[in-house]
Amino acid sequence: MTKPPERPRYAALTGLGSHVPPRTVTNDDLAELLATTDEWITTRTGIKTRHWAEPGTATSDLALEAAARALRSARLPAEPGTVDAVILATTTPDQPCPATAPQIAARLGLGHCAAYDIAAVCSGFLYALAAAAGQIAAGQARRILVIGAETYSTILNPGDRTTAVIFGDGAGAVVLEATADRDQPGVLRAFDLGSDGTHYELITVPAGGSRQRTTPGEPNPDSHYFAMDGRQVFTQAVTRMADSCRTVLDRLGWPVEQVDHLVGHQANLRILTALARDLGIPLQRAAVHLDRVGNTSAASIPLALDDAHRRGALTPGDTVLLTAFGGGLTWGSAALLWPSVSPP
Ligand code: COA
Repeated sequence: MTKPPERPRYAALTGLGSHVPPRTVTNDDLAELLATTDEWITTRTGIKTRHWAEPGTATSDLALEAAARALRSARLPAEPGTVDAVILATTTPDQPCPATAPQIAARLGLGHCAAYDIAAVCSGFLYALAAAAGQIAAGQARRILVIGAETYSTILNPGDRTTAVIFGDGAGAVVLEATADRDQPGVLRAFDLGSDGTHYELITVPAGGSRQRTTPGEPNPDSHYFAMDGRQVFTQAVTRMADSCRTVLDRLGWPVEQVDHLVGHQANLRILTALARDLGIPLQRAAVHLDRVGNTSAASIPLALDDAHRRGALTPGDTVLLTAFGGGLTWGSAALLWPSVSPP
């Protein structure tokens, strides 16, 4: 008796694209507005410039560009039926209600596909990848557009030097397609996701939700801004990402020496350095993009991937380990063999 063909149940990356708004903000630009210096920002974070959207530009505007490029890179038309779902990871949706993903799907001309947002702050893209891979594994979708996009400039407190110098705006997107071949390059091989809500207060935008509504004449206008306990976050970020990476490597049976590229959340160069050291991965194998874009939260991983891809740093067949950490607290990791991806 012949075996029935295996149901495609692995999710493979087949397209990649990114976009940042044109306006560049240098450390010296910020030093004119805040009590800070290029020297402090560079030595404490590794960031030299970031992109901030012009007023009036929303997260969906950046997401749209990145998503269109990812579709072109996967050689797919932006038309109804192309994808079964659009998933947007973001901390800065166009508005609290409705989700932003349906608008992106409509503006791209993707028809009536499923579309939803995921909120896991800087880990959002890893959570979105896992959700997409799960939908594909369950046979609910054959092709999914996964986007990470942010306009942090809209929630930064312009008077807070501890956060305003760190974050930037941008978007990155990938196309995932179903395959029956687990060994196909691009297949997301293993995931690890986690959270620790006991530390939810370390990264917050206090107002605008059900606990503290947005009302005109708010007594504390700063409560609408992003706030972070940087020092606490620093320690948690290194420990959580390192443990999460080890979990993924254990699940795959990959020794750490086998990792060709560590694409970690672009929070801070010192965090990336400490992470690489903790894992025993040479720093030269860690993707560094934050010097030019800052911390772009949920957009950070696809932006760093696209930057490495455009620079020709990723060779098909290379092992790639993705890891992120963010507010919640949340963290997540995944691994894949780099596929042959076309430029958009
Ligand atoms: N310019 C100049 N001085 C600054 C400054 C700035 N932009 N921001 C903070 N400082 C000052 C502080 O006020 C403090 O001064 P004090 O000693 O007089 O009180 C001093 O610098 C040291 O502050 P500290 O917060 O201890 O610095 P740090 O070495 O921990 O670096 C961060 C601060 C935010 C860069 C660092 O903690 C960090 O990167 N944390 C992780 C943040 C992150 O990536 N979050 C997102 C993860 S998802």
